[in-house]
Amino acid sequence: MRTNQPRTIYLSEYRVPAFLVDHVDLRFELFEQGARVHSTLDVRRNPDYPERAEHLELDGDSLRLEAVSLNGVTLEADHYQDQGDKLVVLSVPDQFQLTVVTWIEPQNNTRLEGLYKSSGMFCTQCEAEGFRCITFFPDRPDVMARFRTRIEADKSSYPVLLSNGNDIERGELADGRHFVTWEDPFPKPCYLFALVAGDLLLKQDTFTTCSGREIDLRIYVEPRNATKCEHAMDSLQRSMRWDETVYGREYDLDIFMIVAVDDFNMGAMENKGLNIFNSSCVLASPETATDASFQRIEAIVAHEYFHNWSGNRVTCRDWFQLSLKEGFTVFRDAGFSADMGSPIVKRIEDATLMRTAQFAEDAGPMSHPVRPSSYMEISNFYTLTIYEKGAEVVRMIHTLLGPDLFRKGSDLYFERHDGQAVTTDDFVRAMEDASGRDLSQFRLWYEQAGTPVLTVRDEFDAEAGIYRLSIEQSIPDTAGQTDKKPQHIPFALGLLGPDGEAVPLRLSENEADAPLERVLELTEARHSFEFHGVQTQPVPSLLREFSAPVRVDYPWTREQLLFLMSHDSDGFNRWDAGQQLAVDVIRSLMDGENGAVDERLVDAYRVLLNDPALDQALVAKMLLLPSEAYLIELSNDVDVQAIHEARTRVLDHLANALRDDLLACFHRNAGSGDYQLTPEAIAGRSLRNTALAWLLHIGDQEACTLAQQQFDVAGNMTDRLGALRALVNSRFVAEREAALETFYQCWEADPQVVEQWFSVQAGSQQSGTLEAIKALLQHPAFDWKNPNKVRSVIGVFAGQNLAQFHQPDGSGYRFLADQVCRLDDSNPQIAARLVSPLTRWKKFAQPYCSAMKEALETVRAKDGLSKDVYEVVHKSLR
Ligand code: PHE
Ligand code: ZN
Repeated sequence: MRTNQPRTIYLSEYRVPAFLVDHVDLRFELFEQGARVHSTLDVRRNPDYPERAEHLELDGDSLRLEAVSLNGVTLEADHYQDQGDKLVVLSVPDQFQLTVVTWIEPQNNTRLEGLYKSSGMFCTQCEAEGFRCITFFPDRPDVMARFRTRIEADKSSYPVLLSNGNDIERGELADGRHFVTWEDPFPKPCYLFALVAGDLLLKQDTFTTCSGREIDLRIYVEPRNATKCEHAMDSLQRSMRWDETVYGREYDLDIFMIVAVDDFNMGAMENKGLNIFNSSCVLASPETATDASFQRIEAIVAHEYFHNWSGNRVTCRDWFQLSLKEGFTVFRDAGFSADMGSPIVKRIEDATLMRTAQFAEDAGPMSHPVRPSSYMEISNFYTLTIYEKGAEVVRMIHTLLGPDLFRKGSDLYFERHDGQAVTTDDFVRAMEDASGRDLSQFRLWYEQAGTPVLTVRDEFDAEAGIYRLSIEQSIPDTAGQTDKKPQHIPFALGLLGPDGEAVPLRLSENEADAPLERVLELTEARHSFEFHGVQTQPVPSLLREFSAPVRVDYPWTREQLLFLMSHDSDGFNRWDAGQQLAVDVIRSLMDGENGAVDERLVDAYRVLLNDPALDQALVAKMLLLPSEAYLIELSNDVDVQAIHEARTRVLDHLANALRDDLLACFHRNAGSGDYQLTPEAIAGRSLRNTALAWLLHIGDQEACTLAQQQFDVAGNMTDRLGALRALVNSRFVAEREAALETFYQCWEADPQVVEQWFSVQAGSQQSGTLEAIKALLQHPAFDWKNPNKVRSVIGVFAGQNLAQFHQPDGSGYRFLADQVCRLDDSNPQIAARLVSPLTRWKKFAQPYCSAMKEALETVRAKDGLSKDVYEVVHKSLR
């Protein structure tokens, strides 16, 4: 039982390591009843450490210590202290070899940190602090060592034995066992260590690097997944080429391996030369995976590959610098995805994630800067702020410097810090040094939490031909941070004349060749700009392409939004105008001002549905109404049911008014037989399935038949699941149940498809009631030990099915609290992530607010609460 609060770690307390490890020699003896780990470290005192440290301290977690020896001599018990979470070796010399033998039980490891078993294979997860669950070690990213790893296991059960680097030796042992030895020539922190042992099938290909080296590419999967590797392999090859072309980064080892595992806490992990993936983030075939998963896989394969430079060759000094690798790598993978598909769609998706989820996090009790200054449990800081806002911060540097200077900056960064463990400040300094720009104020983006609000007002002086824009920035107080300084914000802007044409942006009266778009740099609390030579009142297009992660407050009229929706040359802002218009219409229903849905919204949607000249990828996005989560994020004192009802009414109205257009859209996008992943083909499927969903939403009988047909004949999972989802969200109970049944019978052997089947039900407004969710937890395919299953039922219910989760009687909250308590014992990381929908209770109106708080309090009261859940719950209740 936890009796006192976990320790808080502060960035300000950072000290260089007292000892360095140059080389690690590992030997794993893997058995069914456990594993013995022999670890030999070449240790020396760090000359940069300010004092002379007397004792060597190594981190450990859940280890059984069997032996310790120094320079080959076994140490007596009075020469070291086994403190459980630390091994202290007393009075050590300046340089020595230390051997530690530990015993661990991977088969009982449900936390999935360190060495564990998943579907019969051994695998590891060491980031952030999992290596200490394998052996005693200075488990911090600024201790970088070269690793040699020998794995021994039964040959018939574990024919494949993998670790980082190159395999240098293999051989037979007694009792049907065998071994393989791996050597990684690159020094690395222990969080990048990996080991896999299993009966795996190998898919192989090659890649020839820009300098002509041939790399052996290997994807290892369970034999039943043999047909699901092609997309990941293609994505890997495209990523390798892209990183050479766009960043000048060549791969450095001779082998690059990917392994798919079913039980994994996160999406994937960039271990040097041996990436380990959650099966759902790597395996795909058109029959079993949707367009969304294909795109996600491409992005994650790229993300992990890009980490080889932004993360592995140059790594983090400490975990406060996590965004150094994650923000930058997300920025890199976003650039890749944009280049591989539709850049506008990618930008819309990223901005949507920021505005719905990251802004919410940044305004909530777990709010933290991109570079946090304290934490209790680092696993809680793999957040949207570190990843997505961190990527937006790098993107702003790119915007401020332009592509060429940015590339000079990244070249300098990689060259200057290759082989080092560094800070976000080092990254910014490389950008400054390469570009000659001063980013000192810009650094506040790393230090200050909270989403800046830009209050924009304008006025048009017709006589003088001057359009004035005033912009005020303020940054709200956040958990533990007040009185913030103005930040350096790139604000992209255009002005539209009466026919939608771009108005030149003259900042002085006689400016020649004035640009049609400008990136204004906001550095003060208040700015005003004057644009000269403007003939008629323009419509402003603000924060184009979401040029900074900020909220914009501008008193839009519906006329302006409709105008931008059809005329803005910035596709992103065309989409955004449509979103703001829909938000406004939904909100006016909630205010009860006028009972009817504005017909102009209907007309605007009709144009979208019927104009084939429009970019269909953009249209597919524009047709999606703002989500309940986004509407909640925009409100205070939230009444979830009121938001849900208003949004549903707008959807009803649109679908009824546009019934024929939707049917036509459905048929027009019938699609050809073969499955393609082009932006056009993806847009076609999205349009078709949106049309189906809307029509089933209003209970259209003809659409129900169409959905059943599509469900039966679909040649790909996008269409099959689209039809299933539409049915499951409809009032056609018998048809819904039949489709769910058929689907399960067809796919019960495929865990990734079963996860989608769970998600569709858990997210359904019709069938996803609390009772139905409880029934799903009893389903034979549900597995408490498998994070994907937990996420696809409980996570989807609490995080996406907002109207069902937020029942005024608090039943959804109590349910979630119970599941969090249950999971806390087996997998604290997952439990801590799952509890997050409850943490924002202050934002909600009564009775939601008190009921959420009460549920959190029951979690707080649980005996033996993990550090992970403790931190989240206590921070949200204070
Ligand atoms: N470093 C991984 C990534 O972003 C994420 C991860 C973190 C995976 C912690 C596992 C554990 O690519
Ligand atoms: Zn990452």
